[in-house]
Amino acid sequence: MASSVFHAPCGAPSIKQLECQKYVGLRPSVTLRFNCVKTKTVTTRRLVVTASKSHDGTTKKLGISDAECEAAVVAGNIPEAPPVPPKPAAPAGTPVVPSLPLSRRPRRNRKSPAMRASFQETNLSPANFVYPLFIHEGEEDTPIGAMPGCYRLGWRHGLVQEVAKARDVGVNSVVLFPKVPDALKSPTGDEAYNDNGLVPRTIWLLKDRYPDLVIYTDVALDPYSSDGHDGIVREDGVIMNDETVHQLCKQAVSQARAGADVVSPSDMMDGRVGAIRAALDAEGFQHVSIMSYTAKYASSFYGPFREALDSNPRFGDKKTYQMNPANYREALVEAQADESEGADILLFSVLGSQVKPGLPYLDVIRLLRDKYPLPIAAYQVSGEYSMIKAGGALKMIDEQRVMMESLMCLRRAGADIILTYFALQAARCLCGEKR
Ligand code: PBG
Repeated sequence: MASSVFHAPCGAPSIKQLECQKYVGLRPSVTLRFNCVKTKTVTTRRLVVTASKSHDGTTKKLGISDAECEAAVVAGNIPEAPPVPPKPAAPAGTPVVPSLPLSRRPRRNRKSPAMRASFQETNLSPANFVYPLFIHEGEEDTPIGAMPGCYRLGWRHGLVQEVAKARDVGVNSVVLFPKVPDALKSPTGDEAYNDNGLVPRTIWLLKDRYPDLVIYTDVALDPYSSDGHDGIVREDGVIMNDETVHQLCKQAVSQARAGADVVSPSDMMDGRVGAIRAALDAEGFQHVSIMSYTAKYASSFYGPFREALDSNPRFGDKKTYQMNPANYREALVEAQADESEGADILLFSVLGSQVKPGLPYLDVIRLLRDKYPLPIAAYQVSGEYSMIKAGGALKMIDEQRVMMESLMCLRRAGADIILTYFALQAARCLCGEKR
């Protein structure tokens, strides 16, 4: 049963993993088994059925054969069974009404935890999570004000410890976001393809410690751009497309050389997936995957992330490359391009929040899930994380439940994997750890 929920990576017994959230799985329940026993008090042989709470093979056999049991029943010696519980009383004042003549009562299939678990359509597993981690050159871990619980991790210490914690609960995929010193930023973002830069160095270190860790990298110039843009900005504020793609190809190749498994262009320049694929192949990196940010909307939900990396745009307009949140069909245009250019995974960002239904972009995930056979990734972005954290801190919502519900909803909408700052917390919850 547990394996239908997820393949437990953690040491905790699998049944325990199901305790965290009712909708994630089934609570353990005692199996009742019936044993045939002989009573001493009656002269005619009567059989009493009792329920034993465990069936460990030590139950005493009473020497009555199946044929004897059957014969007793045929002879009218019906064994006693526990009584049928009385019908529960309704509160005084409950109106007495005839039952509705319904042929379909969907509540029947929801009436117990076991039945709900049987019919659950979507499951959530730590294997579905990709953990975004912010890194910096320092030795200390610096808290990120707008993202409680998230830190800029020292690449040599804090990061390695965080990855170890995540792996302990089955999260074996991370995506790295570097906070680059201002002195290394430039209008053309050349630090992005420095083979000895923070990201390549971190990849070597992580791969050395954890060879089977799946490392995703972000391909975009914003952490390296003195203008805070994903591309090169012309003096009139135009973000230059093809020149930026040239830089992104060098960046992706540098990351692949360091050992990245999946490069993830988040820049939204036109034609970058095809160009990056060709550049990787030309350098012998046919095995490196591309997860393309396919429908990346120009969103205010990225605010906390930009604080984390100190990458707020100084001038120019991200709306000239990120999508208009009002658009739905345009996601198909982007997906068609990315698919034909060779993307391996289509990613959607931004997503709305379950805290405030009405905002979600889940419709776009569903659209692309239905239209494309490629794996779909969803990014539960920084603003959504911060809102759930803030709502929880203010005791307005139950943080843990809302976290799990929002992740489950992303899976239901069609996401195979989810990039989420909750990866560790949610995986611990799935493993039954209370922290
Ligand atoms: C940068 C990038 C951003 C995010 C992912 N990659 C920010 C932006 O485009 O301004 C957003 C992630 C988040 O908010 O958690 N290319």
